Amino acid sequence: MSGLRLGVNVDHIATLRQARYAGMPDSKNAEPDPIIAAAMCERAGAQGIVTHLRSDRRHIQDRDIDRLRQNIMTKLNLEMGNTPEIVDVALRIVPDEVCLVPEKREEVTTEGGLDVVAQRKELEPTIKRLQTSGIRVSLFVDPTLEQIDAAHELGVEMVELHTGKVANAFSEKIEKQELENLQAAAKAGSELKLQVNAGHGINYSNIALINKIPHLTELNIGHSIVSRAMVVGIENAVKEMLAAMADYKA
Ligand code: PXP
Repeated sequence: MSGLRLGVNVDHIATLRQARYAGMPDSKNAEPDPIIAAAMCERAGAQGIVTHLRSDRRHIQDRDIDRLRQNIMTKLNLEMGNTPEIVDVALRIVPDEVCLVPEKREEVTTEGGLDVVAQRKELEPTIKRLQTSGIRVSLFVDPTLEQIDAAHELGVEMVELHTGKVANAFSEKIEKQELENLQAAAKAGSELKLQVNAGHGINYSNIALINKIPHLTELNIGHSIVSRAMVVGIENAVKEMLAAMADYKA
């Protein structure tokens, strides 16, 4: 078993449910249920469950968050934008971890990391309030040394490196450059005693590349696992990803 841990993002289980039942939130037929899926991921060996409560509630709903909080046996990592409404939800349910992400209404999924350097003033009070409630805080950042330094200065416990560019690189040159950026950022984070995680766009093919980033503690993966679950079932999808991560050497 590799030392690298897996957090499974269950948002897209809710995306599928909302495609049919968005207008019928109390329907007994509303399926698939992200809470059942989360329990199955844990049973298959996932070390955490990740979910993003978006301001527009396009997939995960408030009721899902409450039920996830009550039922998860491993740990709950809540991804969220830094807005007063969502911060209040986090302070009410107290997830084990929060990962602060940028959030744009029109985006399909999170695009790019937080600009911690530019948003230092807005981030600082939120980080303090979350930490005072016992929540460990992560910042989702692009792999640059400036962002890692700024995250460290803000006193967070973790950073999550945005792997979207390497995952979607359309040339070997870009892939190589992005991998080098990720490797350097992970090293810098580790030297600053930050826990370094990674996520976004990781799938069963590019995991071999992600395994080349040193100093990682955790990968947070959603779309590829949920997609594979349609074919092989969610427990098998999780087990296959854990097996692919087993080659990892920090
Ligand atoms: N990590 C963060 C911070 C994210 O915003 C997302 C997308 O919700 C993920 C990981 C998972 O990305 P994917 O669904 O591409 O695996």
